[in-house]
Parts: sequence; C-alpha cells; structure tokens
Amino acid sequence: MIIAIDGPAASGKGTLSRRLAGRLGYAHLDTGKLYRAVGMAVVRAGGDPTDPETAETAARALDTATLGDPVLTTDEAGIAASKVAAIPGVRAALLDLQRAFASRPPNGCRGAVLDGRDIGTVVCPDADAKFFVTASVETRANRRLLELRANGLDAKEEDVLRDMKERDARDSGRSVAPMAQAADAVVLDTSNMNAEQALDAALAVLAEKTVGSRS
Ligand code: DC
Repeated sequence: MIIAIDGPAASGKGTLSRRLAGRLGYAHLDTGKLYRAVGMAVVRAGGDPTDPETAETAARALDTATLGDPVLTTDEAGIAASKVAAIPGVRAALLDLQRAFASRPPNGCRGAVLDGRDIGTVVCPDADAKFFVTASVETRANRRLLELRANGLDAKEEDVLRDMKERDARDSGRSVAPMAQAADAVVLDTSNMNAEQALDAALAVLAEKTVGSRS
C-alpha cells in the first residue's frame, strides 16, 4: 500500500503524513528532507545551491543517516532545498531512493506514506491513494510564523508571507516535476482544520477506497 501526499509548504501535509503512517503502522518518508539535506550539504561546503554540478554531486553522495539533523528543519535549509530541487540531475539522483522506499518499506512495514511535491505525479504515479493537502497562503504563512515564534525566533509577518509566496512560485514554476496536484488526488484544504480533523478526513477517504475496492 502506497499513500502519496503532496502539497505546498506549511499546508499540514507533514503532520498528516506522520500521523497517518503512525495510525496505519506504515513507514513514512518526508521527501522534503532529502532535498533539505542536499541543499545543506552544498551550503555547508561553501557551494552554490543553484549550481547543477555541485548540487547533483551532493545528491548522489546523500547519506540518509543524516536526515534526522535538526538543522534540516530551519528556513535556511528550506530555501537551499527549493533551489537544489529545481535541478533535474538532483531530482533524478533522488528518484530511485524514493521509489525503493515506497515499494520496499523499511522495518517490514506493509505500506508507506511519502510526502512531498511530486509524489503522486512523478515518484509514485501508481500510488494506491493520493492526497493534495493545501491551505490558503495566508493561513500557511501564519502557521509558519507561530512555529518560528514558538522556537524563540523573531519573525515579521510580511517577511514570512513574502518568503512563502516566493517558495510557492519556485516550487510550482520550475520546469522539472513542479509541485502539482495529480488528476486522481483527493484535495484536503486544511485552512479550517486542525491536525486531528485532517487525519480523520484522510482516514475517511481511505476507508471509502477500501470499501469501494471490495465491492
Ligand atoms: O516540504 P519541505 O518544505 O520540506 O520541502 C523543501 C523543498 O524541497 C521545497 O521547496 C520543495 C522541495 N521538494 C520537492 O521539490 N519535491 C519533493 N518531493 C519534496 C520537496
């Protein structure tokens, strides 16, 4: 069982994916972490994340044991990630790893939840269930602002909103595997949902699918 979850930054897709995987006993891969790790590897080596050769070399050398590094959750990593993510060679280098996780989930799990931007469209086009999780850009910027402030960082609302819009434009506007909603994805708009409600909505969709496939 493969569940593909795509959507923009701060849409709630990460929380939903984690909770869904936890509830179903499936393995979870946050594919944004892969791009963040590649972006930070380039930045830490003093390189330019927009340089294709440097970024592709970093992607090929990616050590998945480093995905738990807390630096990967920072905005610096997110910005570097969205730059390396626009490079076709980087995406190609990460494709096999993502597909292997989906088809042979670790720890003997019977299924996998992968979240990102192109899971339902490119990485796992044959996924058993696909969700496109979204929310208004203002809601997403506000969530990010609260998260930054909770971490003791002083951020201005207008800066966070501007960064969010820039990131959306980079992720949707790139020529290779842009963020897109798969034609067969179920849209979950979390603007007025909390994490529990989003999980319930996704579980209801999955339950319906299972019933549908039995009849
Ligand atoms: O979901 P996130 O914020 O951790 O993603 C970081 C960046 O990586 C984001 O700007 C888009 C990119 N990304 C991607 O292009 N494809 C994916 N499957 C996952 C993330």
